[in-house]
Amino acid sequence: MTGHPPKKPPILELRNVGKTYQVKQGLFGKARPLTAVNDVSLSLSRGEVLGLVGESGCGKSTLAKILLGLEAPTTGQVLVDGQEIGDQDRLSLARRIQPIFQDPYSSLNPRKSIFDIVSLPLRVHGIGDRTQWEKQVREILDIVGLPARVMNTYPSQMSGGQRQRVAIARALIMKPEIVICDEPTSALDVSVQSQILNLLGELRREFGLTYLFISHDLAVVEHLASRVAVMYLGRIVEEADVAGLFDHARHPYTQALLQSVLTPEPGLGVPDTQLGMAYPNPIDPPSGCRFHPRCPLATDHCKSHAPRPIRTEQGLVECHLYDPESQMYKNEAA
Ligand SMILES: Nc1ncnc2c1ncn2[C@@H]1O[C@H](COP(=O)(O)OP(=O)(O)O)[C@@H](O)[C@H]1O
Ligand code: SF4
Ligand SMILES: [Mg+2]
Repeated sequence: MTGHPPKKPPILELRNVGKTYQVKQGLFGKARPLTAVNDVSLSLSRGEVLGLVGESGCGKSTLAKILLGLEAPTTGQVLVDGQEIGDQDRLSLARRIQPIFQDPYSSLNPRKSIFDIVSLPLRVHGIGDRTQWEKQVREILDIVGLPARVMNTYPSQMSGGQRQRVAIARALIMKPEIVICDEPTSALDVSVQSQILNLLGELRREFGLTYLFISHDLAVVEHLASRVAVMYLGRIVEEADVAGLFDHARHPYTQALLQSVLTPEPGLGVPDTQLGMAYPNPIDPPSGCRFHPRCPLATDHCKSHAPRPIRTEQGLVECHLYDPESQMYKNEAA
C-alpha cells in the first residue's frame, strides 16, 4: 500500500485565530495594540500530538488559553469536533479539554491536600460522592505513578516531578479527549523531565488522548510529537511531520532552532538560536517578513513584503524562498 492513510476529521481546529491585547506603556501612555497571535490556522486529528515550538513571547501560551476558553480570540474560531467553543459553556469544555501547565508550584493550591486538588474536577462537575472520589483519586494517582498515601499530603511536601504528576492526575481525572500541555517539563530538573515525558507518552497511548504539546525546545517536542508547528511573533511559519522537519527544515527560523538544539547553550536552559539580536517586541513588529532582521537569507523584498503561507505536501512554510511568485523579485535583485 502506498500513500497516507485517510485523514481523520479534526478533533480540534483553529481557523484564522488572532488575539490582540491593548497594552498601556507607562502610567499615562496611550494603549497600543499588541498582536500575540496572528491569524493562526491549525488542526489536530484524534490521537495525534502536535508540537508547538517557538521562543518565549511568540504567543504559545496565549494560544493555549484561547483553546482552553480562558481567553476569547479577537478574530477567528476554535472548533472542537466541529463545534465552536464559543457556543459551549466553560464546564462542558473543561470535560473535553484539560491543561497541564509549566509550573506545578503555582498551578497547585498550596493550602489544599492532594486529594482535594485531584478530586476538584469531579466535585465541580458534581460527579459521584466522597467514596467514589476517593476510589477515582486512588486510581488516577496509581496511573500517574504516585502512591495512594500522598492523598493526605500537601504540594509543599512534594518534589517538582511529583507535583507535575499531581497536575497530570488532576487533568486526566475527568477523562478529557484533548490535553493542552504548556511547557509541562520546562520547570523540572533534566533528570525528571524525561520521566514526565515518558509518562505523558504512555498516558496518550493508554487513553487515546490528543495533545497539543507546547515547548520552546524542539528537542523536547521531538520525543512526543508526530507533527510540529513553529511559531514566530504570533504566526505559524512552518508546519511539517516531525521527521520531515528534523531532516529538512525549510524556514530559516526553523533551521536556526534546529542548530540551537544541536549546539545547546549549557546552563541556560533556553536554546541559543545563534540569531544575534534579541527577540523583537511584538508591539513593534518588523516590517515585511517579521523574521527579516534576524534572517541570514533576507533580501530587500523581505523587508517590505510579508510572505504568504505556502502549503505543499511537506506541510506549510511562510517564506519568500518557497513562493514561486516571490522568486522573480530575487532575480530582479540579482
Ligand atoms: N494579558 C496580556 N496582556 C498584554 N500582553 C500580553 C498578555 N498576555 C500575553 N501578552 C503578550 O503577548 C505576547 C505573547 O505571550 P505568550 O503567549 O505568553 O508567549 P509564550 O507563551 O510563547 O512565551 C508577549 O509579548 C506577551 O507579553
Ligand atoms: S521571507 Fe525572507 S526574511 Fe523571511 S524567512 Fe524567508 S528569506 Fe528570511
Ligand atoms: Mg508560555
